[in-house]
Amino acid sequence: MGSVIDVTIEEGSLTEKKPTVVFVLGGPGSGKGTQCANIVQHFGFTHLSAGDLLRAEIKSGSENGTMIQNMIKEGKIVPSEVTIKLLQKAIQESGNDKFLIDGFPRNEENRAAFEAVTKIEPEFVLFFDCSEEEMERRLLSRNQGREDDNIETIRKRFKVFLESSLPVIEYYNSKEKVRKIDAGKPVEEVFEAVKVIFTSNSEKATV
Ligand code: ADP
Ligand code: C5P
Ligand code: MG
Repeated sequence: MGSVIDVTIEEGSLTEKKPTVVFVLGGPGSGKGTQCANIVQHFGFTHLSAGDLLRAEIKSGSENGTMIQNMIKEGKIVPSEVTIKLLQKAIQESGNDKFLIDGFPRNEENRAAFEAVTKIEPEFVLFFDCSEEEMERRLLSRNQGREDDNIETIRKRFKVFLESSLPVIEYYNSKEKVRKIDAGKPVEEVFEAVKVIFTSNSEKATV
């Protein structure tokens, strides 16, 4: 009798599946949020933007709110512990098993901590490649009332992207996980390229 129960428990833990995760990376204003909305519609993923989760945390009046707000204003990267907790909570509450994680990991600390805590490896990394000139133009006309969409903070965010975020993309590139997209084109054209990647990836998974 006892052994039957043991076997059942063991099978339960063995069949517990890790969620599918795609990291969506690119400079500020490269179009990550815009394209994620399209991917959600066509491919059934849940979109989790690390920046959106951090902004919601400020609004909720959490004890970390002021610290997060100050870091965002300076274009700095919030400690991984805070961001990963928010991501984990959103994953658990979603009920889905496929996630676009947008704007994360933003530095080596984000990357290593997420891997250590969740043991999740991304399926692939979608990288929106866009010139600073174009990203600056888009951010200055985004009009979402964001405190970091001003030229002074934008310059700091570009610097952080080059110094801290690009090395993460290079890390995944060395593992052949990066799918790079020319994100300087109009929204519809960028999405055509995105669709090819998601379609060929799901075909691969079912073969
Ligand atoms: P990110 O999430 O990477 O910071 P967003 O998706 O918020 O970028 O896009 C930044 C701004 O640029 C938004 O105002 C959006 O409407 C606009 N935008 C997004 N993609 C394009 C594109 N391909 N061409 C022109 N404008 C775009
Ligand atoms: O991705 P998004 O442009 O919305 O991010 C806005 C800001 O949120 C970043 O400039 C950074 O200050 C903060 N952020 C962070 N860690 C992440 C993602 C965003 O600290 N992984
Ligand atoms: Mg965004």
